[in-house]
Amino acid sequence: MATKVLGFAAIAALFHKVTCQQAPTPDNIASLLTWKCTNSGGCIQQSTSIVVDWVYHWIHTVNGSTSCTTSSGLDSNLCGSEQECYANCEISPATYDSLGIKTSGNALTLNQYVTSNDNAGKNYEMLQLLSQEISFDVDVSNLPCGENGALYLSEMDVTGGRSQYNPAGASYGSGYCDAQCGTGTWFNGSINSGGLGSCCNEMDLWEANSKATALTPHPCSVEGPYGCSGSACGSTGVCDKNGCGFNPYALGDQSYYGQGFIVDTSKPFTVTTQFVTSDNSKTGTLTEIRRSYVQNGKVIANAVASASSGFSGANSITESFCTTMDSEAGTLGGLNTMGEALSRGMVLIFSIWNDAGGYMNWLDSGNSGPCSSTAGIPSTIEANDPGTSVTFSNIKWGDIGSTVSDTGGSGSSSSSLISTKTSSTTTTSATRTATSSGATQTHYGQCGGMYYTGPTVCASPYTCHVQNQYYSQCL
Ligand SMILES: *[C@@H]1O[C@H](CO)[C@@H](O)[C@H](O)[C@H]1NC(C)=O
Ligand SMILES: *[C@@H]1O[C@H](CO)[C@@H](O)[C@H](O)[C@H]1NC(C)=O
Repeated sequence: MATKVLGFAAIAALFHKVTCQQAPTPDNIASLLTWKCTNSGGCIQQSTSIVVDWVYHWIHTVNGSTSCTTSSGLDSNLCGSEQECYANCEISPATYDSLGIKTSGNALTLNQYVTSNDNAGKNYEMLQLLSQEISFDVDVSNLPCGENGALYLSEMDVTGGRSQYNPAGASYGSGYCDAQCGTGTWFNGSINSGGLGSCCNEMDLWEANSKATALTPHPCSVEGPYGCSGSACGSTGVCDKNGCGFNPYALGDQSYYGQGFIVDTSKPFTVTTQFVTSDNSKTGTLTEIRRSYVQNGKVIANAVASASSGFSGANSITESFCTTMDSEAGTLGGLNTMGEALSRGMVLIFSIWNDAGGYMNWLDSGNSGPCSSTAGIPSTIEANDPGTSVTFSNIKWGDIGSTVSDTGGSGSSSSSLISTKTSSTTTTSATRTATSSGATQTHYGQCGGMYYTGPTVCASPYTCHVQNQYYSQCL
């Protein structure tokens, strides 16, 4: 991730009993079927669901409707301490429709944001992918220049920082962190009174639109979540903010990925990423991150770097690729520390976003892709491609070689699918540029905030009030 959105997202703390909220989230929005696979037993269906990051929920007084957040952070009268905040405030379920999130069976479509599962006490699903692989289908055909449909892993706390004062924790999407070490209102589910940055290991499996794609480890020298302060949060801090990414275009193969190219982005395809260790065991060190695709039933090998790129012949991410691409990766432990995080377990996160600061040029413009340097201006995207969206489906993880053969491209597949687990995968924020017609929002409904795209006009006599940068409300 090279940005902002995810740096903020986050975390939670102190809210009142989740059980006192109505939790009207329809199942078809929260549930996202996934598969865990082994070579010996095939793929077993998992009852997973997704949750939208905590910052996109309305936090208000218990039994009342006064916001506990203000445009500059927490309301100090209501939330002067964790105890006060817990006693005075509660969190309401997110409104998924207006966040542009839809799930159906095994597919998640993000027109924008993400979703939530409101069962108190659930933890994040921790994927342990060292010496394993993960596959998913993606449709990027509706993602123009400047958009980023992302699927990645962050080493968040398994409970989202659940505590006495934040009993909801992961079930309301708290505890966000990533390698950008962003500073927000919350850190690991608690009030961020120390102004800490929320750092953690991040593995970007997929950051892409229809023009460019990147696979990027962002190792950190610390176990996440970690609260950085001062220079430790800086550009040469504890996490590798740039990462050592594999982008076929940037590595010299400009006709590999795109509409009508070898990986044809006008149609869905399967993406497989393998985390190979020194001795092919789960206790080895991570030595290589491999990528392949399947489209129209055909396996497509990863792109190969050209001689002029300086990485001649490279078709995967190895330690030398990583440290040559990005010197900081080496000083922060490189693939070895990335592998340790993959072994401990990481949370799967989905997002769609665009980038008002840098127009996503790092991904798809200049040396990185064919887009013009101004194509990613959010207002341009909104004007030209208001329906921009990404769909991820058929998410499967497990033994190397086990996730693709069983796929067949369609969700449910063969064999006996046993629902073994209930847990939640996470999801975060995003950006969108769509919808919102002439609809009006009702009393207490959301009417604005970063990345919000629902109705912005309140039904009379209510007017829209800014509560914080993520949330404006009809009052
Ligand atoms: C909120 O309402 C519930 C149910 O009516 C009540 O038991 C509780 O005491 C109220 N809490 C506050 C802080 O007013
Ligand atoms: C995050 O919160 C969890 C749950 O309360 C706790 O066990 C863990 O130590 C916390 N980590 C940090 C770095 O604060």
